[in-house]
Amino acid sequence: EQVSALRVNKDRLAKDLHYSCQWGAGIRWGDGSTDTGMQRLALSDEDKKVRDWFIETTTNLKCRVTVDEMGNIFAVRPGRRKDVPATFIGSHLDTQPTGGRYDGILGVLSGIETLKVMEEMGLETEGGVGVVNWTNEEGARFPVSMVSSGVWAECIPLERAHGLKEVPTVASLSTAASAPETMKSALEKIKYLGPVPCSYKETPMAAHFELHIEQGPHLVSAGQRVGVVTAVQAYRWYHIDVIGRDTHTGTTAFQHRADALFASARMMVRAREVADSHGCLASVGIIEAKPGSINTVPGLVSFSFDIRAPETELVTIVEADLRKEFDLIAAEEGKGIGKPCRVEWRLDFDSPAVKFHQDCIECVQQSAEAVVADANVPDSKSLVRTIMSGAGHDSVFTSKRVPTSMIFIPCKDGLSHHPEEFSTAEDCATGASVVLQAVVRYDRK
Ligand code: GLV
Ligand code: MN
Ligand code: MN
Ligand code: MN
Repeated sequence: EQVSALRVNKDRLAKDLHYSCQWGAGIRWGDGSTDTGMQRLALSDEDKKVRDWFIETTTNLKCRVTVDEMGNIFAVRPGRRKDVPATFIGSHLDTQPTGGRYDGILGVLSGIETLKVMEEMGLETEGGVGVVNWTNEEGARFPVSMVSSGVWAECIPLERAHGLKEVPTVASLSTAASAPETMKSALEKIKYLGPVPCSYKETPMAAHFELHIEQGPHLVSAGQRVGVVTAVQAYRWYHIDVIGRDTHTGTTAFQHRADALFASARMMVRAREVADSHGCLASVGIIEAKPGSINTVPGLVSFSFDIRAPETELVTIVEADLRKEFDLIAAEEGKGIGKPCRVEWRLDFDSPAVKFHQDCIECVQQSAEAVVADANVPDSKSLVRTIMSGAGHDSVFTSKRVPTSMIFIPCKDGLSHHPEEFSTAEDCATGASVVLQAVVRYDRK
């Protein structure tokens, strides 16, 4: 059948991907400069340059391009009918501070490659086909992940998103900033605060497909080529303050301290034990100790906290257990002086577990089976498996409003959020061909 024969151009996809990575190439973190890594923080000067390129490229492909108030960029290649929304391919062009060239970037570039194939073939669709670059998916610079697809889905208020302040450790990496930017000021600065209200009602979609590297070990270790993503695990992000008392390091005996950092360290160790006992994950990524003096015991420690679990209820259970455990640890530190430490939790982000849409999953499954048939092995269908995503993606939020699903390809050592993140050009092309076919299949449904 005709759709099953559709393939992207592997070399062009690889060339475009690396071309787009000239903006933000290399890692500028201490001495850790690398050839492969990326540091393209959301709304940075490098992000502006790749956005400009995205608009230029899609405009040349005869797309209609719009930008909304979160800086999301939508490029649509018109279909025969003007009265139905386009089917979208989307992901993100921002990266982690020590990111790679594939997380997010591959998803957007597979969309551009899809448009190029369609143009080249003169392929007509019923509805339009769109590509979207979502702003600040990583949540690394402005600390809510998937925030702009979240606003589009009307799950996160625009005012809250615009008011997000950049993370201080990450802000110190950005070239300009003297005072910390908010998302709104950063959008204005690079001229990407667009006129279109950010909402699925203003920019409707028929469906959303996202190609992504797995960022984990399952496909690569099994030698499989494509993951048909059926679900995304739950996660919550917190800001935790541990409050003790500042005192002199040379004169204060241990039993007379309310050392907020010592208590925090014990909490972090306990968090891993408790999460592990439930088959979940708990992680700290940002730590700040105050006053930050070599000879003063820290009286205040703030840390980020990230809990992940396959089921939403499990996150709730781990959180409840850890609230008790952290209180016990805090109570022990400083009890000798009658001033025990205290713990305060603030929930910053809550993403329940997601199940993707059956229609989209079917399109991906059929497309994946068609594409891996090229491998010419006896049981090529075994190269395709269903899989749950451990990471969050913009598809989490689009799935709340429109039929959505995702495609995973293997990545080396399952490594991501690291400069050596890598997927072969062949695997990237396989994934992109699956996206291309999935969109066409969905359009014909
Ligand atoms: C989102 O990208 C996440 O999984 O942290
Ligand atoms: Mn990503
Ligand atoms: Mn990421
Ligand atoms: Mn992500």
